Amino acid sequence: GKVRRPTNFICTISDDRGEEATYCGVPISEVVERGFSIADVIGLLWFKKKFPEWSSKFIDMVIKIVADHGPAVSGAHNTKVTARAGKDLMSSIVTGILTIGPRFGGAIDGAAKYFKMAKEKNMSPDEFVAYMKNVEKIPIPGIGHRIKSTKNPDKRVELLKNFAKENFPKTELLDYALEVEKLTTSKKENLILNVDGTIGVLLVDMFKELGYSDQEIDELINAGAFNAFFVLGRTIGFIGHYLDEKRLDMPLYRHPWDDILYDVKCDIE
Ligand code: ACO
Ligand code: LMR
Repeated sequence: GKVRRPTNFICTISDDRGEEATYCGVPISEVVERGFSIADVIGLLWFKKKFPEWSSKFIDMVIKIVADHGPAVSGAHNTKVTARAGKDLMSSIVTGILTIGPRFGGAIDGAAKYFKMAKEKNMSPDEFVAYMKNVEKIPIPGIGHRIKSTKNPDKRVELLKNFAKENFPKTELLDYALEVEKLTTSKKENLILNVDGTIGVLLVDMFKELGYSDQEIDELINAGAFNAFFVLGRTIGFIGHYLDEKRLDMPLYRHPWDDILYDVKCDIE
């Protein structure tokens, strides 16, 4: 028989060889005709799945909720500064995307990983908080916010929690994270379960319900698949901030001297 030349690449998500391209076997025209949402397209291309309606609606909500949080946050700020240095769309938005990480927006994977681990090991909230402090020696991903607190709750978190309570079959990891939050907020009012944390634990609850094993969920987290939701959503905002700078024709930005503590002491003869 024929011996096929070994290929350099493998693709298991889309196929462009026919009359029209398909997303996980579904022709683009069918995606349009059947009224698939952005979440449904994400399901096909990221997870090779057609999400049930409740999870599709949840993903749509996540994308909308993380789309922007004003000009002052790391990513939007970088995008604005870069646009004002005269750079193009792509260059400006990547500087914003590059700030997404363990402290800003990219704590979703970490929150999913550590809360999931703690629950699997039957750690009490007390034990978990102590473990993160003494063993991992890192702030608990998904806990804490610069401006939101128990006195100034994050409306986005309320929306996500309410949706999950009404539409998810179970919210076991969210419930555990809320017990941890009770403990952390009793120490300091801004140590709330933040938007990253809420999305992280609810994605674990969602994928469990969709039949994923613990190991499969760990693999998604290790691949960065949960942070991907913030990257995608917040890029909408970064593009907005870039276009805003261009529309306003803003000049080159230079940071004011009086906002920098110059403390140069060098040991040079
Ligand atoms: N877990 C445990 N303790 C914490 C945490 C946490 N996640 N965050 C802050 N603390 C403690 C600190 O140890 C510190 O304690 P101390 O006063 O006894 O030294 C105190 O709270 C203040 O810490 P700061 O770092 O000054 O807190 P700040 O309010 O500046 O930090 C931040 C906010 C960066 C979000 C922080 O809480 C954190 O790193 N959280 C984990 C990462 C995270 O979830 N980021 C996503 C935020 S949401 C988003 O970006 C869309
Ligand atoms: C965000 O969504 O960017 C924020 O929660 C972070 C912030 O400090 O507002």
